[in-house]
Amino acid sequence: MSEKRSSFTGKIGFVLAAAGSAVGLGNIWRFPYLAAKYGGGIFLLVYIALAVTFGFALMVAEIAIGRKTQLSAIGAFKALDKRFSFVGVLASIVPMIILPYYAVIGGWVMKYIFGFASGNASAMAQSDYFSNYIGTVGEPLFWFALFIALTAVIVFCGVEKGVEKVSKFIMPLLVVLIVFIVIYTVCTTDGAWEGVIYYLKPDFSKLSGMTVVAALGQLFYSMSLAMGIMITYGSYMKKDISIEKSVHQIEIFDTGVAFLAGLMIIPAVFAFSGGDESALGQGPGLMFVTLPKIFDTMPAGNLIGAVFFVMVFFAALTSAISLMETVVSILCDKLTIGRKSCCLIVLAGALLLGIPSSLGYSAWSEFKIIGMQVLDFFDFISNSVLMPVVAFITCLFVGYFIKPKAVIDEIELTGEFKQKKFFSVTIRYIAPICILLILLSSVLSAFGVINI
Ligand code: PFF
Repeated sequence: MSEKRSSFTGKIGFVLAAAGSAVGLGNIWRFPYLAAKYGGGIFLLVYIALAVTFGFALMVAEIAIGRKTQLSAIGAFKALDKRFSFVGVLASIVPMIILPYYAVIGGWVMKYIFGFASGNASAMAQSDYFSNYIGTVGEPLFWFALFIALTAVIVFCGVEKGVEKVSKFIMPLLVVLIVFIVIYTVCTTDGAWEGVIYYLKPDFSKLSGMTVVAALGQLFYSMSLAMGIMITYGSYMKKDISIEKSVHQIEIFDTGVAFLAGLMIIPAVFAFSGGDESALGQGPGLMFVTLPKIFDTMPAGNLIGAVFFVMVFFAALTSAISLMETVVSILCDKLTIGRKSCCLIVLAGALLLGIPSSLGYSAWSEFKIIGMQVLDFFDFISNSVLMPVVAFITCLFVGYFIKPKAVIDEIELTGEFKQKKFFSVTIRYIAPICILLILLSSVLSAFGVINI
């Protein structure tokens, strides 16, 4: 029982591991399409405002809870206050919902690697290539199954560390390639500059309730908050590492990658569509429709396209591994079966839930849940409902039950917590009130009661 919990080595070890989980499809695929859809500059502004307030307070609180209790989500809430064990359970459901549809998108990425590697850039640059592709049944299912199987094999064989090492090397290269694509697009494509302005200049007339709802959901998703992940990471963090500084570093890195991904994709949308509303609002397909057009105009576009999608694949894979690991370890704690059997159960569950997400664009496109396609519905339930609920209760828990001082004391093990006043006010008042309002408005609007 007294087995020592393993911990991340060194200062940078923790930040890199947490950033590895945080940086994924959320930054490269999800952030740009939301920013394009919900007003460009105004979305960016709202997102950054939420990141430095709610994002900061929640991440600090989650990491401190994990490090204080040395337990992951379910155990941690239970250890601090038995009545709150249910929050850990709720938080744990989130990665179970995200993993299957994450793998569907991971499958799309694999298909694109293969497409560019076989020299199809010009075909892929056609506007209807992506919708035709996801409109077929077999191939997207195949790539999805391959992606989730690969993730499962890695978790099953326990070779995550190896993959993470490779990806730590690839991640900076991905950032460099994104910067290169940004410069290339802006310098060589007519009309791209308007996209830069749309993305960087906030237009307050475009601010809507949905801008805030989408930005908050994206914040949780991108920073792996409100799903127990940061509690687990905190439980592995050594006591002599500054939580405050680490959180700043993770936030800067995560937001930086998302920002650059937006700067890569949105100007390209303007260049090819002139900023047409329907192109900006097209949703999950945005990256897959827009980038091939850019690669097609580049010399060696097939090669660059393939390399780009390989890198995105690694970012997606490390995130999928951390999602699957979380689900596996929750199951292992609950059931008295071995880790390998848990892996197989999670694989089977993810396959089962991922199939409808994939078919939602083809054979089951008529099937809608509260007006949404299956993948959108899973995304909505986890990002716009469960995560805000978990975040709201976490704020109340820290603000009024264990009290902010419990978190502050944990943080001050390594010196003064500079933003402690700000932290206490945010976690007690600002965050819970705002999250509750945002949650209510997103649910009421999904059911068509209000129009935000
Ligand atoms: N934060 C990841 C992303 O932005 O893609 C998604 C994610 C990965 C969430 C891993 C949770 C997790 F455990």
